[in-house]
Amino acid sequence: MNIEFELNGRMVSRDIEPGANLLTVLRDSAQFSVKLGCETGDCGSCTVLLNGLPVNSCVVAAGRIQGQMITTLEGLLDDPLMVKLQSALVDSGSVQCGYCSPGMLISLYAQFTHESQNLDEDSLRHALTGNLCRCTGYVKQLEAALEVAKTLEGER
Ligand code: FES
Ligand code: FES
Repeated sequence: MNIEFELNGRMVSRDIEPGANLLTVLRDSAQFSVKLGCETGDCGSCTVLLNGLPVNSCVVAAGRIQGQMITTLEGLLDDPLMVKLQSALVDSGSVQCGYCSPGMLISLYAQFTHESQNLDEDSLRHALTGNLCRCTGYVKQLEAALEVAKTLEGER
């Protein structure tokens, strides 16, 4: 089966196996920020944006993304907000093995860019709820996100 979809701003065409998930299609497309963890929708390491909203790509059937817009971390590396979020995570010491970091960054980016964005502690904690980290826990990531929110507030 052939599908066409937008990947990081460019239309692409892929032949997919029956039953393939989006995670597989993206890694086969050299989107190596998309990590394979649980493959059951529980860990968040495979998080990408589907039409601007975060999804666990391991539980999205590849056939569903025909004509849809997918954004991975690779597509946001030059985005000023993503640069701020990345720096904050690194500076806070919340990146150790780094396996969870791309998924966390995508989840935070979605929260910061959603039109009804709410960047208080509860909302940011909720945004990170689906992203598991085996190394550092969850406090440093939250502190990093709050720091970025404070910086952005100061720039307004
Ligand atoms: S690999 Fe997709 S949620 Fe864990
Ligand atoms: S930094 Fe290793 S899993 Fe989060």
